[in-house]
Amino acid sequence: MNEAGRSFTIAIDGPAASGKSTTARRVAAALDALHLNSGQLYRAIAWASLREGWIDDEDFDSRLRELPITLAAGDGRFELSVRGRDPGRELDAPEVVARVSDVSARASVREVVTDKLREAARGSRVVSDGRDVGTTVFPHASLKVFLTASARERARRRLLDYGHEPDPETIVREAAVLEARDRADSMRELSPLRRADDAIEIDTTRIPPDRVVERIVKLARQRSLGTGSY
Ligand code: CDP
Repeated sequence: MNEAGRSFTIAIDGPAASGKSTTARRVAAALDALHLNSGQLYRAIAWASLREGWIDDEDFDSRLRELPITLAAGDGRFELSVRGRDPGRELDAPEVVARVSDVSARASVREVVTDKLREAARGSRVVSDGRDVGTTVFPHASLKVFLTASARERARRRLLDYGHEPDPETIVREAAVLEARDRADSMRELSPLRRADDAIEIDTTRIPPDRVVERIVKLARQRSLGTGSY
């Protein structure tokens, strides 16, 4: 493989709704790489186990092992499929969001997801986002970024994302939901949400998305990653 096609992994972590997925998708496009969304896998397991009624069962781990989840390299991203279908926006349903942090705290779940992420990334150019991609999944990533923003701003963005009006009262309510999930994700024993020591932190509260993407692409280029133009 020539220098231009060299494989690499860029890891983008951060709290809920800090813009990781949008940023990762756009950075991947700019660098001719694939977006690998780790949160989507945790959501998919919460979604499937809720739908199929085994989320609280004793045999959760064996049901999980039998659940067919695949990631296929597609156009700019890895396409997720669970039992042969793409759950799409069903992964954003409030009942999935309400259970995803306890599902993702389970050792069996973390193992399955980590293996799938590593397998997908092998030999590819990948921009992955999540909570522990820079600390646990890809500790040797070529570039690590930790994105933050105030809870208020994250709540405002998430509401707009879902097509809701971000009025002051709704923002306060959404911010509380996001912060509760951040607490659960930061306090769990296995791979808690935290900035890797070698990650570059970017507070995006007052920075427009284009500038955040530009900054990460520039950092990537300084490390000679990717070939696309931006
Ligand atoms: O988009 P948002 O930041 O709200 O969430 P997400 O990235 O889709 O992640 C959903 C949930 O999956 C998080 O709240 C974590 O509980 C879990 N997660 C994780 O534990 N580790 C990751 N690398 C990614 C997500």
